Amino acid sequence: MIGGSGFYTFLDDPDDLRVATPYGEVAVSVGNVAGREVAFLPRHGAHHEYPPHGVNYRGNLWALGSLGVRQVLGPCAVGSLRPELGPGTLVLPDQLVDRTSGRVQTYIEAGASHAPFADPYCPRIAEHVLAGEPEVVGGGTMVVVEGPRFSTRAESQWFAAQGWSLVNMTGHPEAVLARELGLCYSALALVTDLDAGLEVGEGVGQAEVFRIFAENIERLKALLGRVIADLPDPAGCTCSSWMDGVELAYELPAEL
Ligand code: ADE
Repeated sequence: MIGGSGFYTFLDDPDDLRVATPYGEVAVSVGNVAGREVAFLPRHGAHHEYPPHGVNYRGNLWALGSLGVRQVLGPCAVGSLRPELGPGTLVLPDQLVDRTSGRVQTYIEAGASHAPFADPYCPRIAEHVLAGEPEVVGGGTMVVVEGPRFSTRAESQWFAAQGWSLVNMTGHPEAVLARELGLCYSALALVTDLDAGLEVGEGVGQAEVFRIFAENIERLKALLGRVIADLPDPAGCTCSSWMDGVELAYELPAEL
């Protein structure tokens, strides 16, 4: 589990580890949820010290992989580009658009390795969440912006006109790095605001995002606990075989 803005702890009585990775040390808590071993890390750091463009995405995914994690849930705060997806709505998107710039989005340092990424999220996790949690809206495209600023009204209206439904700052490159490691990965978006193109007032602000997230965090944690309790076995999921036949021009963590 990778927690987002406003989501810095998840486990009761965890073991706090510092995992060495080629991208630096990563703090990960390990504990138990419904009898299952779960690793948790807050992507922005325990005190929100890393802005979206400063998150150690490569280290985070590597650390989880090297602990033996196979399935990654990535809850995140998002702005909505559609009036029907109001604050508090939970959405499991099925597509993403990368509007970030300058982020390292690969483990590949040299050579020819190209991850298939047409469908960026794990279909097995999506099916499981949507079958068990009817309040979660399935599908939609999340556009990931570089941030840390919010979008202008014109940008936001342009995103909406493309048919995209959510906007966020951290969904990329998390998903593609999970793909390169052969991990199942799913975003789970909590709408905290109507983005500037929809907003009639001042436009979105940070205080609103954190307030709405805080109002919904216990509900989100409870839902994630239920999802984890009977998460299906990742064995045989397409996520572990996307990279079959692709020459890996990079190392994998020892556990994978
Ligand atoms: N995260 C939460 N709300 C957001 C918004 N409106 N734009 C980008 N990232 C967000």
